[in-house]
Amino acid sequence: MPTPKNFVIVAIDGGAASGKSSTSRALSEQFNLLHVDTGSFYRAVTAELLRRGVAPSDLEAVRREVGALELATRLNGRSAAMEIGGRVVPETEIRSRQVNENVSHFSAIPEVRAALLDYQRGQADVAQRHGFRGLVMEGRDIGSVIFPQADFRFFLHADPAERARRRALEGGQDSIAERDRLDSSRQTAPLACPAGAVAVDTTLLNLEAVVETLARPIAAALAK
Ligand code: DC
Repeated sequence: MPTPKNFVIVAIDGGAASGKSSTSRALSEQFNLLHVDTGSFYRAVTAELLRRGVAPSDLEAVRREVGALELATRLNGRSAAMEIGGRVVPETEIRSRQVNENVSHFSAIPEVRAALLDYQRGQADVAQRHGFRGLVMEGRDIGSVIFPQADFRFFLHADPAERARRRALEGGQDSIAERDRLDSSRQTAPLACPAGAVAVDTTLLNLEAVVETLARPIAAALAK
């Protein structure tokens, strides 16, 4: 489906606990954009593969199983939730310790990334079908691989100690430094600030200030 001129795509990349999710949700509310958390997609696929008894080291089984997944999208408020075989994997499962420990291993496998490529791009069609003004998609490779032509591309980063503090406040058990190391060093679509993207250091900013920084150019473009 061609994207109409007044349909905006906002790409937000960054490491774990860099503030992507809260910021994306706030922008989704402010501008009526579909919120797409691609980390939740990789998490749902990880949970499903683990449920099927597939280990990330068993590449043959990963290739076989990931190619057979039936993916669809269900709206959860303004957010897109991935359905696998008609089932949405519950939040508690996708944020579990087991998924935290395995998701970076599965998401480094090129066939896993390839299996999710069209699905992620297809979220623009989902947003249009449901009357959103655009979409805000967060992840690791949105501005570089999924939507390199996005209208806005941001890269959020923060001091590792501050990110660990934020994740601990959320109550999650997560080795964010280890996930960042794996996500940044993989061969396919590594985590990096894409050329031309606007980098924002969120270490000393509260959520309101981060949202304001990203919202300003979006509001200016939409007012034209
Ligand atoms: O955003 P998150 O921390 O919930 O993402 C979980 C993992 O998914 C992350 O450690 C790496 C992977 N991921 C990815 O490889 N590419 C994306 N676009 C989004 C997430």
